[in-house]
Amino acid sequence: MNNNFVLIDHPLIQHKLTIMRDRETTSGKFRLLLKEISLLMGYEATRDLPLSSKNIETPLEEMEAPTLSGKKLCFFSILRAGDGLLSGLLELVPSARIGHIGLYRDSETLEAVEYFFKAPKQLSSRLCLVVDPMLATGHSACAAIDKIKRHGAKNIRFICLLASPEGLTVLAERHPDVTVYAAALDRELNSKGYILPGIGDAGDRLFGTT
Ligand code: URA
Repeated sequence: MNNNFVLIDHPLIQHKLTIMRDRETTSGKFRLLLKEISLLMGYEATRDLPLSSKNIETPLEEMEAPTLSGKKLCFFSILRAGDGLLSGLLELVPSARIGHIGLYRDSETLEAVEYFFKAPKQLSSRLCLVVDPMLATGHSACAAIDKIKRHGAKNIRFICLLASPEGLTVLAERHPDVTVYAAALDRELNSKGYILPGIGDAGDRLFGTT
């Protein structure tokens, strides 16, 4: 199991997640809840960002005030379901840069196959938050992290809604330096690589493509 695993089990997140799990929840509601949860999770996943100070003038006097230091963050969405986490995160950090990686799962091998990649410059000096609602087999997460490491990223975190024990183990073995943040650790994967009890296909539920 990954030592770098953070379960963000705030009551508001758990409540919203229960509504998302319910098969009767509509796509519109599902999308909104994922946005709200991502904002709350983003808050936790960024709580140790480095600060420096700058001199400002309040209406009353000068002060040395804290400000985020270093290069802008980069959110890395694993298409397509990762996009469901982006809008909440961008509300939290509007100046963040955004990367995309397109991966699909080969239905036979469950391995990740890349079809799209676009990244901002200077990944080596940014905190990169890779986002995908589901850490299932871990193949997509590992492939995405392999790729952004090859592009120079050194400081990487992974944010998902649900993690499986299998996915966490695979990620910990391949990328022990990457901390995983999840709203729940579910029981197991089924034979098709779906998380149980899970939420179903995150992309289909987000975009109404079932
Ligand atoms: N991807 C999904 O959308 N759902 C799962 O349960 C696993 C992978």
